[in-house]
Amino acid sequence: MKSAARGKLPLSIVAIVICIFVFIGVLYIEDTGSLSSATLLALQSTCSKQDDPDNNSSRSVKVQEKSTTSTSLTEEKDDLNGIDGEEEYEEKAEFDPEKCNVVKGKWVFNRSLKSLYSDETCPYLDKQVVCVKNGRRDSDYRYWEWQPDECKLPRFDPKTALEKLRGQRLMFVGDSLQRGQWQSFVCMVESVIPAKNKSIRRGRSHTVFKAKEYNATIEFYWAPFLVESNSDLRIIGNPKDRILRVDAVKKHARYWEGVDILVFNSYVWWMSGLKIKSLWGSFANGEEGYEELDATIAYRMGLKTWANWVDSTIDPNKTRLFFTTMSPTHMRSADWHNKKGIRCYNETRPVLKRGYCGSGSDKRMMNVVSSVVGKMKVPVSFINITQMSEHRIDGHTSVYTEYQGKVLTDEQKEDPKRYADCIHWCLPGVPDTWNQLFYAYL
Ligand SMILES: *[C@@H]1O[C@H](CO)[C@@H](O)[C@H](O)[C@H]1NC(C)=O
Ligand SMILES: *[C@@H]1O[C@H](CO)[C@@H](O)[C@H](O)[C@H]1NC(C)=O
Ligand SMILES: *[C@@H]1O[C@H](CO)[C@@H](O)[C@H](O)[C@H]1NC(C)=O
Ligand SMILES: *[C@@H]1O[C@H](CO)[C@@H](O)[C@H](O)[C@H]1NC(C)=O
Ligand SMILES: *[C@@H]1O[C@H](CO)[C@@H](O)[C@H](O)[C@H]1NC(C)=O
Ligand SMILES: *[C@@H]1O[C@H](CO)[C@@H](O)[C@H](O)[C@H]1NC(C)=O
Ligand SMILES: *[C@@H]1O[C@H](CO)[C@@H](O)[C@H](O)[C@H]1NC(C)=O
Ligand SMILES: *[C@@H]1O[C@H](CO)[C@@H](O)[C@H](O)[C@H]1NC(C)=O
Repeated sequence: MKSAARGKLPLSIVAIVICIFVFIGVLYIEDTGSLSSATLLALQSTCSKQDDPDNNSSRSVKVQEKSTTSTSLTEEKDDLNGIDGEEEYEEKAEFDPEKCNVVKGKWVFNRSLKSLYSDETCPYLDKQVVCVKNGRRDSDYRYWEWQPDECKLPRFDPKTALEKLRGQRLMFVGDSLQRGQWQSFVCMVESVIPAKNKSIRRGRSHTVFKAKEYNATIEFYWAPFLVESNSDLRIIGNPKDRILRVDAVKKHARYWEGVDILVFNSYVWWMSGLKIKSLWGSFANGEEGYEELDATIAYRMGLKTWANWVDSTIDPNKTRLFFTTMSPTHMRSADWHNKKGIRCYNETRPVLKRGYCGSGSDKRMMNVVSSVVGKMKVPVSFINITQMSEHRIDGHTSVYTEYQGKVLTDEQKEDPKRYADCIHWCLPGVPDTWNQLFYAYL
């Protein structure tokens, strides 16, 4: 029975080791070696039992079975409202970052939503994320709006966003998911800047988009673990061969100095399921001196190194800090009771069940972040995207992406077991909502 399976899920997940073929392998364009070799991933769900109040509801099943027409979507919404006991057009408070809990909410379908860009109009998107160009034909995934229970999220207004950035440097630091958020941000603002007044300078690890008349930059810095590793610039495909310097961050951090607004993330690269080969100290033994640590322990050490750098370097009166929480993966269709599914392949609707949470985000890792950041002197604001993204099994690039630098061929697209990427997100898409949240805090 579905309800029974759902009730037990969080417990069994602790023990489940998920076999994933395309994982770290798809994290970065240059990374090509590991797609065919299985990588193991052990996850404990972020959500715990209390997130499952209505396990006998038929809604999540319906989500899988219903065809995707806009009328059925509207019905679904009404359904949800009925169950939540909410008025459809309830007046909600304006957004107040101190008061509104943006984590609790729901996705609402709205066909009249207009994305601020498309993959045809924005020239700054990577091949990896341009799903429409890469052949994705269903479009419903672009018309969902996140509505927190307690307040209204402000619409992203490009001119206001640029005005807020006037005379400042904004930098996103982290992995390919963070790069997605950076691209989304750039694309959402760039359309209001005439061609002459914007420029981009791409580097191997540092890319700078400049809005000249605002004297503002929106930058991306590649540091997938935040701390140093042997796999930063030359990506090492096989996670077994990666070695992290969990106490070293200077090489990267010198690029972060003088930036006005820093947005960090780091999660998925720690989740290879293997022990993390970690070095610290003076490296007198060279790379042979590593210790193999559990991901959570290595992650804590790495984040602590990052936190110490922040606390000793950053002047909180000059610099604002943000941290984007983990972006969930959707590798296990059984999580949302699609038994015949292949990861997120072919999914065209979010899971609308309230508080839905699968096995693609790790509660222990979230706890590490909370606890390290909780002890910092310099305040860090969370852009907590985890819950909202958990629902979005439909938002991933799936087979509408690239492999070894080339868009998947039709043959490859027919082999989702091997090629479907359920880590990264289509753009325009879910990361636009992350930025809507970020914008609300700006
Ligand atoms: C929901 O799950 C809990 C725990 O598994 C169980 O005790 C309860 O009876 C279930 N409720 C319904 C309505 O199925
Ligand atoms: C679940 O709901 C169905 C009707 O929606 C009902 O027939 C069934 O008895 C319920 N099961 C439990 C365990 O409450
Ligand atoms: C749908 O989106 C449009 C355009 O942003 C907006 O004007 C409208 O109020 C939205 N409808 C609902 C029900 O939120
Ligand atoms: C432009 O912004 C930088 C900081 O990003 C600042 O140092 C510089 O003075 C600004 N220039 C003008 C003309 O405002
Ligand atoms: C481009 O930027 C310059 C200042 O750098 C400004 O004077 C000009 O109006 C801008 N052009 C447009 C079309 O906005
Ligand atoms: C920040 O500014 C406040 C008042 O403006 C001041 O009291 C405080 O010492 C400053 N902090 C730092 C780290 O400079
Ligand atoms: C995916 O969707 C297409 C079109 O709806 C369908 O023909 C195909 O059988 C589906 N594949 C799987 C594995 O569900
Ligand atoms: C983010 O939200 C989740 C709920 O989805 C919560 O469990 C977690 O503690 C939050 N993370 C942080 C760092 O605040």
